[in-house]
Amino acid sequence: TFDVKLEKTGKTVTVPEDRSILEAIRDAGVPTVSSCESGTCGTCKTKLIAGEVDHRDMVLMDHEKEDTIMICVSRSKGGEELVLDI
Ligand code: FES
Repeated sequence: TFDVKLEKTGKTVTVPEDRSILEAIRDAGVPTVSSCESGTCGTCKTKLIAGEVDHRDMVLMDHEKEDTIMICVSRSKGGEELVLDI
């Protein structure tokens, strides 16, 4: 379990072990875009403002991983809060 802070929306959402960041954000009533929800299509690409990500997608190039996250599959590394530009 870890928290995701949505910078533009002004909300912090808790992501349980059995939910993706995308699902947790959607559950909180914040609109999201997605398609494959398995880390391959690139639709859910989101700008990362802060935090260490455990990248689990097949889409991002190494140089993108510092400031982007695929929120349908990737998670926090070490359970620390992630700050997203949503
Ligand atoms: Fe396809 Fe996330 S919805 S990569």
